[in-house]
Amino acid sequence: MAEINAAATMTAVILSPHFDLRKTYFLIAGIAGVSPKVSTLGGVALARYAVQVALQYEFDAREMPGNFSVGYVSYGTTAPNQYPKTFYGTEVMEVNAALLDVAFGYASKAKLADNAEAESYRARYKAGGEEFAAATRGPSVVKCDAATSDVYYSGTILSEAFENVTAIWTNGTGKYCMTAQEDNATLEVLMRMAIHGLVDFARVIVMRTGSDFDRPPPGVSAYDNLFVVQQNGFEIAIENIYLAGVEIVMGILKDWNRTFKKGIAPKNYIGDVLGSLGGSPDFGPGSTTA
Ligand SMILES: *[C@@H]1O[C@H](CO)[C@@H](O)[C@H](O)[C@H]1NC(C)=O
Ligand SMILES: *[C@@H]1O[C@H](CO)[C@@H](O)[C@H](O)[C@H]1NC(C)=O
Ligand SMILES: *[C@@H]1O[C@H](CO)[C@@H](O)[C@H](O)[C@H]1NC(C)=O
Ligand SMILES: *[C@@H]1O[C@H](CO)[C@@H](O)[C@H](O)[C@H]1NC(C)=O
Repeated sequence: MAEINAAATMTAVILSPHFDLRKTYFLIAGIAGVSPKVSTLGGVALARYAVQVALQYEFDAREMPGNFSVGYVSYGTTAPNQYPKTFYGTEVMEVNAALLDVAFGYASKAKLADNAEAESYRARYKAGGEEFAAATRGPSVVKCDAATSDVYYSGTILSEAFENVTAIWTNGTGKYCMTAQEDNATLEVLMRMAIHGLVDFARVIVMRTGSDFDRPPPGVSAYDNLFVVQQNGFEIAIENIYLAGVEIVMGILKDWNRTFKKGIAPKNYIGDVLGSLGGSPDFGPGSTTA
């Protein structure tokens, strides 16, 4: 778990002489903290963007200026919620949206798992009104984006801050819904290996399932939401990785000869903020590789 393990493991697997992964599809999947604004416990999300949200300056909230909404500040700027002036290259990863649409169709066939305890915790979000309506419904498959951070953050303020970062860094296109500790790292390895022709970056799918809410319902503290209450989303999140994921795998195998062997050509930009795979990123300050 977390970014270093994910990157090191992917690197080792792809460089292993036992595999030829040039036509392989990658389904990156894991459990996640889930935004009650977009999905729920057991909900399945397929992402177009992975955003490394904590790649920023950080002040402890007790020492930040009184006019700051959060202690995180993008590189090269001096206040929260500004567009970064300096990029490391791993801030945002965009995958093949045409493949995502096909995967979404397959995953939507799954009959997802649920349980009564998760259902009862979801009901607490009814007090949040329309904003948290998605949290109160049973699990379904949705399209929305994943935030990656080694820090397992929790609570309304940080969740909102990283929701803002996702929107700002993807130039308004990305929609934050799931938290992860790996996706961006896994994607960065796949992208660098694609530069060397070892994998096809157009064959990557990013899927997350909600195991716990990133922020509490009204009347519950951030501390209690993370450490005290039993949300009971973990088992169904694990189950739903399989139930939705296996539909995607079977769909790809079944239609391999006709469609997936040659691949689904992306219509959107794919890759990082630097333009490392060619093309023009639809986010960020522009390609640095021409
Ligand atoms: C916020 O506070 C900082 C530090 O006191 C100050 O430099 C900055 O000008 C303030 N920003 C705004 C928009 O008032
Ligand atoms: C997120 O963005 C909204 C709208 O710009 C802003 O009002 C809010 O303070 C931001 N939240 C954080 C935690 O920075
Ligand atoms: C795909 O083509 C191969 C080689 O012609 C064949 O052996 C295989 O059965 C086909 N697979 C499917 C799912 O039709
Ligand atoms: C994204 O937004 C930033 C900040 O507004 C802007 O400088 C950049 O050109 C935009 N990138 C694209 C590809 O529209």
